[in-house]
Order: sequence, then structure tokens, then C-alpha cells
Amino acid sequence: MATRNVVKEGDPILNKVCRSVLNFDEKLAQLLDDMADTLKVENGVGLAAPQVGILKRVCIVDVGDDDGIIELVNPVITEASGEQLEPEGCLSCPGIYGTTKRPMTVTVRAQDRNGNTFFVSGEGLKARAFCHEIDHLNGVLFKEHVIEYLDTGSEG
Ligand code: NI
Repeated sequence: MATRNVVKEGDPILNKVCRSVLNFDEKLAQLLDDMADTLKVENGVGLAAPQVGILKRVCIVDVGDDDGIIELVNPVITEASGEQLEPEGCLSCPGIYGTTKRPMTVTVRAQDRNGNTFFVSGEGLKARAFCHEIDHLNGVLFKEHVIEYLDTGSEG
């Protein structure tokens, strides 16, 4: 088990656009394993590579359902529908929560750690987590989507 430090808001790495993953190698596998360990310890619903200081298009989502940890490499949202207004937070912005406006349902096309392309859909919290983590890969924090700040929420 190896955890990595979570970068906090204010670090310019969180505002950078991440590079696509081209090599599906042991280094990528190690990054994903470390991110999973980190997410568990931090008790979040998602984590993106730039949050551990790596500018690669890699993120993971775990909303606590039967799917467990979903690993997304080079993810792209291919469909989005509906709308939800729910509380949201971010492991890089501790203690800050706000109601964000997100699609209710999204479909993501991504690659797994071996480079195989797959599609995954989610609604509610999972859709929100997909949007939140993919935003991180484009240097966007959830605060840009906040409509109203709150006292509590889930962190990704
Ligand atoms: Ni986040």
C-alpha cells in the first residue's frame, strides 16, 4: 500500500491541462494503485492524477456501489443529459462545499490500465463524480460550478 500526498488548492498544478496517456505500462499501473490507496485513506468518491501531482489524463471514481473503483484513462464524456443540483466538495479544497449544477446522467468513453477502450454510464452521484474528476484533467476545480456554498458534502 502506497499513498501519495493530495495537492491542495493554490498549487498551480491543479490549473493545468493534463497530457494524454500513451504508454500503458507498469508506471501507469503503479499510479492507479497508489491513487486507489490514497482515495481510500482520504475517504473520497474520486481522485484525479493532477491531485497527486501527475499531469496525466488519469482519474478514478468510487461511489461505494458494486462497481468498486472505476479506473478512467484518457476519459471523454460522450453523452450528458438531465440536470442535478447537489452538494459537492473536493479533496484538494478541504472544508469547502457547494451546490453544483451537473448533468444527471453521463456516459464516458475511456481506456483501462491495459489500453482497452470501454464505455461507462452513471447517474446521480456517479455522474457528478465523473464530471468532477474529468474537469480536474482540464485544470478545472468544482468551485467553477458552485451555485451556492454549503457546510457539508462529498469530496472528490
Ligand atoms: Ni476534486
